[in-house]
Amino acid sequence: MSASNPAVRRLADWDAARLRDLRETHGSPLYVLDLDRVRANYRRLARAFPDADVRYAAKANTLGRVLTALGEAGVGIECASAGEVARALDALEGTVDDPGERVQYTAVNPPAGDLDTVVELWREYPGLTTTVGAADTLDRLAERGYDGRLCVRVNPGVGAGHHEKVSTGAEPKFGVPYDRATDVLADAADRGFDVVGIHAHAGSGISGDDLAAHRELVARMGDLARDAPVPLEFVDVGGGFGVPYRPEEAPLDLDAVADATREALGDVDAQLAVEPGRYLVADAGVLLTDVNTVKVTPETTVVGVDAGMTTLLRPAMYDAYHELRTLAPDAGERGTVAATVTGPICESSDVFCTDRELPAPERGDTLAVGNAGAYGYEMASHYNSRPRPATVTVEGGEATLARRRETLADVTRLEA
Ligand code: LLP
Repeated sequence: MSASNPAVRRLADWDAARLRDLRETHGSPLYVLDLDRVRANYRRLARAFPDADVRYAAKANTLGRVLTALGEAGVGIECASAGEVARALDALEGTVDDPGERVQYTAVNPPAGDLDTVVELWREYPGLTTTVGAADTLDRLAERGYDGRLCVRVNPGVGAGHHEKVSTGAEPKFGVPYDRATDVLADAADRGFDVVGIHAHAGSGISGDDLAAHRELVARMGDLARDAPVPLEFVDVGGGFGVPYRPEEAPLDLDAVADATREALGDVDAQLAVEPGRYLVADAGVLLTDVNTVKVTPETTVVGVDAGMTTLLRPAMYDAYHELRTLAPDAGERGTVAATVTGPICESSDVFCTDRELPAPERGDTLAVGNAGAYGYEMASHYNSRPRPATVTVEGGEATLARRRETLADVTRLEA
């Protein structure tokens, strides 16, 4: 991959002085998101999948500036809720000719209010596509008068991903059973829906080791597409393209994934669609957090930082590894210690890492947490009455406060 657009951006590649400066100006904890890197990630993906329609899985990071930047680059947006659909349409308004055509709503056990809202938005944006994962949802859409573009999500029976909690492909919750898919497609067409596609998603954080699972998923989708009772406009094989979280981990060989996809789909006469989330935004973001407490104990050195599981949930929820870097200018001259970095939340799972070798931390240091652009702010919460942090975007060397830091008033705002 070209030097100007490397396949991975490691935490070490970020300019420490610049990050310290952003921390100085905007406080801690702080999410920093490089929109140029988001665009570069898309260009790399588009080169590997030149014929695919790329639909960004907004759930990874719904910041309006991300949605607009990707929309401008020609990316569609895959949405998991009515809220995401509304935000996507809003971000694409004025950016593309017909925002509805670029938005796909993947209805997972959709609450009634979501269907009400999406159907209302569809009347305004009839190009919008709704993906259903249960025959039930067809009834509920019909009741609301929806007869627009429809895609059927299939349970491909193969799952993959970085953790069992994100392997969706074989979970009955997602998609109609594979053997029933043809009937559901036929039924939907009979009932007057504009059937345009089929969809499946194996899981999130797919690595090179999962290539066989991906190949199998795509092959099954190919078989289904060839037998489809109606002509299909697209076959959407989901997202899940992984990124390396550990410093020694190699990047996913995207060309190998693309080749496997093309081979398996072969002669299928429908456009390929993919739905990357993490791949586009993960390494475009870091989380900055200050060290509050350094406590030497017989077992380990406990390093308390001001971000916690309420800021970045992934380590607590999936035991996810995130690289940490001390931004202090003299970090390289310090000896290292085995550090257990913890947040301020009253939960034992509020730990970023255990016994990791780090330059001896000092109170007042700022640490950078790598790969925080995907599923970071999105999964943040107010637990322990913690206001959520600010987000700064960086673009062409310019930093902009994209979302202000919350205050306690934001946390209590909705109380009667
Ligand atoms: N399409 C569908 C239908 C999905 O459910 C997802 C993710 C994606 C695309 C995008 O997957 P990605 O390319 O980002 O891996 N919170 C977890 C990840 C959950 C993903 C849920 N669905 C994490 O932090 O690892």
